[in-house]
Amino acid sequence: MSEYNELAGEYIVVKALENGVTIIGLTRGRDTKFHHSEKLDKGEIMIAQFTQHTSAIKIRGRAEIMTKHGNLRTDQT
Ligand code: TRP
Repeated sequence: MSEYNELAGEYIVVKALENGVTIIGLTRGRDTKFHHSEKLDKGEIMIAQFTQHTSAIKIRGRAEIMTKHGNLRTDQT
């Protein structure tokens, strides 16, 4: 665990409210690049963690997101 700094380690929960919700992990550090993307179908849940590789997470599509900052939903498009 010591390779994780105190900013890492936080988990978020994403619940897809439609098919094809995309979760994209963006790299930590000077460069901000996509390093992973994951597709969820309606009803699927992913528990994702901020790590030494991931400092931002982008979510595309209708989803409910639960974090320690509160629960939110992406707007209907
Ligand atoms: N590579 C950036 C970083 O580690 C990724 C990032 C984090 C970012 N938070 C952001 C990019 C907010 C844009 C806006 O800091």
